[in-house]
Amino acid sequence: MVQKQKLYITGGRPLKGAVRVSGAKNAALAIMSAALLASEPVHLENCPNITDVKVLRDIIANLGVKVNCKNKNEIELLTPEVVKTTTPYKEVKKLRASNLLLGPLLARFGKAEIALPGGCNIGTRPMDLHIKGLQALGAKITLEHGFIKGTCGCLKGSKVYLDFPSVGATENIMMAAALAKGQTILGNVAKEPEIVDLANFLNGLGAKIRGAGTDVIKVEGVKQLGGGRYSVIPDRIEAGTFMVAAAATMGDLLIEHVISTHVEPLIAKLREANVEVVEEDDNIRVTARDTLKPIDIKTLPYPGFPTDMQSQIMAMLTAVKGTSVIVENVFENRLQVADEFKRMGAKIKVEGRTAIIQGVKKLQGAQVKASDLRAGAALIIAGLIAEGDTEICNAHYIDRGYENIESKLTSVGANIRSC
Ligand code: UD1
Repeated sequence: MVQKQKLYITGGRPLKGAVRVSGAKNAALAIMSAALLASEPVHLENCPNITDVKVLRDIIANLGVKVNCKNKNEIELLTPEVVKTTTPYKEVKKLRASNLLLGPLLARFGKAEIALPGGCNIGTRPMDLHIKGLQALGAKITLEHGFIKGTCGCLKGSKVYLDFPSVGATENIMMAAALAKGQTILGNVAKEPEIVDLANFLNGLGAKIRGAGTDVIKVEGVKQLGGGRYSVIPDRIEAGTFMVAAAATMGDLLIEHVISTHVEPLIAKLREANVEVVEEDDNIRVTARDTLKPIDIKTLPYPGFPTDMQSQIMAMLTAVKGTSVIVENVFENRLQVADEFKRMGAKIKVEGRTAIIQGVKKLQGAQVKASDLRAGAALIIAGLIAEGDTEICNAHYIDRGYENIESKLTSVGANIRSC
């Protein structure tokens, strides 16, 4: 896989036209992991053609799953009766979300050894909630030599309460419970649209899951899951990134293939910032006509403002006159992107989990470095609004979650190229 190294942007052009959103990264990763629970072929449509999906495809193929790429956005997966059940550190390091294989491997094969992912650029990211939930279903789990090692006979339904509505823990436990004996009641679960998509996918294969999208999920375990065809939901974070890019550049963009309820918290905040947002069927039009206003943001689990949109909105607010305040409540290191904006002339003071942004008239193009996927997307937005040229290093992070971002942005007027 050839990795993109750098992105070059010449700023100052408003984004205008229409852009189509790809399938949701986080839904696709969970659904591909869940496909290991199915005894028959699973055909997935609208999978985003991004690095994270390709990496997970390789990881599950290495386990012995038959992976057939029908085209760049469609994958067929068939998991045989026997597969390898170990995912080494070198793979988990490339893709944290491969920890989502823990629940499916345990439930279907009674065994899983997943390297502990450790911390990452955005925070410490422990797995205690995943482990506690799977233990409650009867799995024996130990931490040995950097691996989470799990074994079980038939998992048994149980009551599980999550101390925090973790997306990954909700998904891992829900997937495991789908094949457990009896009923599992999961309390204080994550309500993200990707959880609902995963539950819909599993129910399509014969699972009995109710309540996804609410605080309590009830799973009636079934003996086995069949196959089926499923289309992944649109990516609300990719959609949100284009929405913010349109607003920040004072543009007028039609964002196609969006479920507007999934981006409701962002729509509310953009309107508060004086941006016109019109919802039409499965499109959203974002138009910035008048001067933008400063806003305050607090990231929270869904339906709160998503942490995955925090860096992008910060990019926009760096050049909005007045004072904006962002509180990052989910991932402790996610405000570090502020240091890169400061290299572009932004005025931001970070104290703990709070960033105080004093909007400047214009950012200036500079050499900057992406430290993670969403920080990379935010630096693109900063580059688009800056005066002059911006060079973004570590641009490979951006390809983890955005399909064809340069060509999509170029088609709506951006001056962006890569090497
Ligand atoms: C998922 C998303 C990621 C998004 C995040 C929050 C995927 C592949 N990734 O990540 O894009 O930013 O949700 O919306 O879907 N925590 C614990 N113990 C645990 C698990 C989590 O303390 O066992 C904490 C984390 O450190 C973090 C918070 O819970 O502070 C939220 O994490 P979680 O919802 O689990 O995020 P991910 O599933 O890793």
